[in-house]
Amino acid sequence: MNADYERDGFLVVPDFLPAADCDALQARAAELVAGFDPGPARTVFSTRDQGHARDRYFLESGGAIRFFFEEEAPDQLNKIGHALHDLDPVFERVSRQPRLAALAHEVGLEEPLLLQSMYIFKNPGIGGEVGWHQDASYLHTTPITVTGFWFALDDADRDNGCLLALEGAHRGRLRQRFRRSGEGMVMDELDSEPWPSEEPVAIEVRRGTLVVLHGLLPHASTANRSSRPRHAYALHLIDRRATYSADNWLQRPDFPLRGFS
Ligand code: FE2
Repeated sequence: MNADYERDGFLVVPDFLPAADCDALQARAAELVAGFDPGPARTVFSTRDQGHARDRYFLESGGAIRFFFEEEAPDQLNKIGHALHDLDPVFERVSRQPRLAALAHEVGLEEPLLLQSMYIFKNPGIGGEVGWHQDASYLHTTPITVTGFWFALDDADRDNGCLLALEGAHRGRLRQRFRRSGEGMVMDELDSEPWPSEEPVAIEVRRGTLVVLHGLLPHASTANRSSRPRHAYALHLIDRRATYSADNWLQRPDFPLRGFS
């Protein structure tokens, strides 16, 4: 296991993605957006009483490429998800590169499975904050194995909403569980222990940097208050040897998960 990752709960790898790959992902995301017909989805998101349709659109996105809007700016995209790595050849090439497989092993994933992918926009003045959370709340396995691979596609700093993390706090317990309940979703409180009171670390990185995040590491990001975009690509992996929770929001009954090959 990588010693820095084990100590801090995250690992920063500058220059992991060459500029050409950052360019390719950004261009491909722009193409997907250009080809997206917002008609039906906008209906799903614009009306409050469309809750069931909106839940379904989200719950079925684990095996699809779908478009999600900002809560505070309903005509602006927040992200594309959640099977880009399986369904789009450009995202698949970057997601299944051998250097990433090697790194997955280095952070303890012996039989890695690529579970979820997201293209995150966080556009200037629009991209909202993401509150403190642990990724294992959303993608739960027993034992906990979810690991985030977060690629900066723009320089990320405090002003445009870089990642914030509580260094070393991945040794704490899982606080919440987000799961399916009937047709919808609920958040269960598992542990009321507050986050450690330490000062968060701002993970300011250059374009092309990869940040690996332990599934129990508390992290967040502020809104983008700058005039610059802060696009990112995030990929979440689990270990095949762990038991995937049957009530996780993301289920792919007809579309098996795959590793790096
Ligand atoms: Fe996260």
